[in-house]
Amino acid sequence: MSRPASIYICQSCGAQTRQFFGRCSNCGDWNSIVEERTSSLNKRSKERISNSLKPLLKLSEPISSLQEKDLDRITSGYSEFDRVLGGGLVPGSLVLVGGDPGIGKSTLLLQSATKMALKNSVLYVSAEESAQQVRLRWQRLKDCESNLQLLAETNLNLIIQELEILKPKVAIIDSIQALNDDNLSSTPGSVAQVRECSSALQQLAKQQNISLLLVGHVTKEGMLAGPKVLEHLVDVVLTFEGDRYASHRLLRSVKNRYGATHELGIFEMQGNGLAEVNNPSEIFLNRKSAAGIATIVACEGNRSLAVDVQALISTSTYASPRRTATGVETNRLHQILAVLEKHMDLSLSRHDCYLALAGGLVVEEPAADLGIATAIVSSFKDLILPDGTALIGELGLGGQLRPVGQIPKRLQEAERLGFQRAVLPTGSGIDQLKRKINLELMEASNINQALIMALGITPERNQLHKEEYI
Ligand code: TYD
Ligand code: MG
Repeated sequence: MSRPASIYICQSCGAQTRQFFGRCSNCGDWNSIVEERTSSLNKRSKERISNSLKPLLKLSEPISSLQEKDLDRITSGYSEFDRVLGGGLVPGSLVLVGGDPGIGKSTLLLQSATKMALKNSVLYVSAEESAQQVRLRWQRLKDCESNLQLLAETNLNLIIQELEILKPKVAIIDSIQALNDDNLSSTPGSVAQVRECSSALQQLAKQQNISLLLVGHVTKEGMLAGPKVLEHLVDVVLTFEGDRYASHRLLRSVKNRYGATHELGIFEMQGNGLAEVNNPSEIFLNRKSAAGIATIVACEGNRSLAVDVQALISTSTYASPRRTATGVETNRLHQILAVLEKHMDLSLSRHDCYLALAGGLVVEEPAADLGIATAIVSSFKDLILPDGTALIGELGLGGQLRPVGQIPKRLQEAERLGFQRAVLPTGSGIDQLKRKINLELMEASNINQALIMALGITPERNQLHKEEYI
């Protein structure tokens, strides 16, 4: 009898080889290759092919003749969650929610499932915690009365069986890495298991029009664990993040077939579960002026947020100065420091620079550049920015300010929060904006002009002491 053949699968990227290697030739990860038996894999895929092969019939139809179906979205019970989903859960869709351990994924989904179960049939499959543990958590949440169905199970076949019997509208699997398919010899959480379990669940979800919410683990580096195919397979990928020691949590959409990506939902972890934060700018704003603080207005998906940037510049005692940034990419900080050094004649290369965005928010968009640069100069020169100034603009390498998108939305948020003035890049069309927005708007073409407007600094006077121009 021939020995069952083995293949070797990289647990990081899912690449397959016929031979064991210490290092994956595809992704370069060390010790990530694990042996898998192929027989069970083949059996399953053959079964699936034979099921799907139908007698020769034409299956396609012209796109124009397709009936327009109204996507009757199911509300998750939380407007912040719905916003990130693009307006609610689409029936038959797969949503993957990833995040660090202990961040609150199970809490979020249990709360949402409880709310959804008031109007729909919902099944919560807990593969990580026992039914009693889930019940304890459920009791901690406020308004917990609903007829949510709970199943504590890790066996894929039993879960599928339950889904077929119960035919719920929504099912939650917490988590996909804890599921176990008997047909495979590998351990739960391995690439083969995650791939098989998720594709089996996907088929069922599409056939029976069940909205499936899957919890996914993340790796040390913060990437979703398991094969990349998992992210391709699902319709929506959400990440739940935040500082574990701060109470608010951010739900972001990374991929969404039914809505905008980079949408942001904000929650706060309280003693009795997660609460929605409807006015998030309040968390990210300090409202007390001090040297080294500037305010930017960032756009996350459809929402704009005013956020404080804090910078601390101090004389360096190291051979090469320290630069750390929280919430902003360090490379971006290096670039802004270099531009300031060159075009503002500031000797920043002999100073340490620490930069942080308030509240643990991460802002990737370049529109934050002007705010970052202003916070740095403000700390370096020990100058305080006038109250209620919003800074918006991208900084070019030549020191010029570049226009950014969604200016009206950003200014509306600044106006709503009671700001008085905003500095914008030239070309933002302030003449038109002035008619709609009740703020003092100033346009600057380069960093020098912008800093004069924001702080009152000129290159000739930047060696002078602060009393001279405050
Ligand atoms: P959990 O939802 O289990 O996180 P995950 O599923 O992402 O691993 O973790 C919740 C954390 O939040 C846990 O450390 C306890 C805390 N918590 C509260 O502060 N308040 C609550 O009401 C609940 C249910 C949990
Ligand atoms: Mg959990």
